Amino acid sequence: MAWYEIPNTNAVSIYSALLFGVLTVVFVFRLWLKATCGKFESKVRLDGKTVLITGANSGIGKETARDLAKRGARVIMACRTMETANKARDEIIEETKNENCIVYPLDLSSFKSIREFAANVNENEERLDILIHNAGYANYLTRAVSKDGIEMTMATNHYGPFLMTHLLIDLLKKTAKKNPCRIVVVASKTHTLSYMDPNNDFHLNPVGHFPPSDLYGNSKFANILFTFELARRLAGTNITSNCLHPGVVDSGIWRNMPIPVNYVFNIFRSFLKTLEEGIQTILYVALSDEINGVTGRYFRNCRYGVPRSDVNNPDWQKALWDASRRIVKLKANDPFI
Ligand SMILES: NC(=O)c1ccc[n+]([C@@H]2O[C@H](COP(=O)([O-])OP(=O)(O)OC[C@H]3O[C@@H](n4cnc5c(N)ncnc54)[C@H](OP(=O)(O)O)[C@@H]3O)[C@@H](O)[C@H]2O)c1
Repeated sequence: MAWYEIPNTNAVSIYSALLFGVLTVVFVFRLWLKATCGKFESKVRLDGKTVLITGANSGIGKETARDLAKRGARVIMACRTMETANKARDEIIEETKNENCIVYPLDLSSFKSIREFAANVNENEERLDILIHNAGYANYLTRAVSKDGIEMTMATNHYGPFLMTHLLIDLLKKTAKKNPCRIVVVASKTHTLSYMDPNNDFHLNPVGHFPPSDLYGNSKFANILFTFELARRLAGTNITSNCLHPGVVDSGIWRNMPIPVNYVFNIFRSFLKTLEEGIQTILYVALSDEINGVTGRYFRNCRYGVPRSDVNNPDWQKALWDASRRIVKLKANDPFI
């Protein structure tokens, strides 16, 4: 039958049944996603507390900043792109009437920028109650190298947060003398795709691996090793360190997908978690009373999750930590964790 001929009744009913079947599957999948995504229902207020979130100019970070501002926190939005950062801040202030939102410039892929940023925060801020490492970079086909000569995904997603945590730890410790503090790392389920060999592969020589998309999984694997090792090193300081998978969320993280894949992907975007759904586990890990004192854990859908088992290997955690110290070139007078 040619495409312009009207199909007979039997064919129409088969096509309709097929279409109905596909739509039902998609609808049920979306319902299942909604039902299992978890919701942080607490109305906890954050008046008098300071929260720092990276990548707060867009996506999950901006949505989280909005929620934290509604709760009365002083929100430090650590962002690379000033134009969208200032717009996001103005929008959040307008909506929440919380004037206590401030943008600090930060390029997480540059050690120099991180040092300037941390100096700025340490000089101007009295306290830091919650530090949320949210900013993230993913590239799927092209390979990039940071100003410091490090593969860009690892530079932004792991080495940047590693250095930043060191440079802000004294402010957290000062705050933690009176109130518990939390460090929250936005990792990802894609850590399960990592091929990283933590015994010799941290620097990820930019010409060494293909495809580059796997580098994202490696960086998220590093996020979890880092979180767990940090938790151990901060034991007894009143600062906890936990990480999470936010779910598969309709955000800008997909922007660098190769063109044909992107077209197909766009069709399915509306079935992903919305930004509001995507921030629930971040809020849970940052604010929930249910996990007071809990540290060194991985969460998803507002409850404990199970990461790939080898992230629990203390030798790998320590090996990554030691290599990271060398790679970010910690100085003798930098805080020691
Ligand atoms: N969306 C998902 O399905 C998903 C799933 C699992 C985990 N995650 C994680 O969730 C976090 C938030 O991502 P998203 O989904 O909201 O993606 P997004 O919309 O692309 O937002 C990423 C944010 O990170 C910032 N950023 C990137 N490179 C930076 C750098 N060098 N310095 C400072 N900021 C930088 C971006 O700023 P610019 O605007 O300046 O680029 C942007 O604000 C990431 O850690 C991501 O890995 C997302």
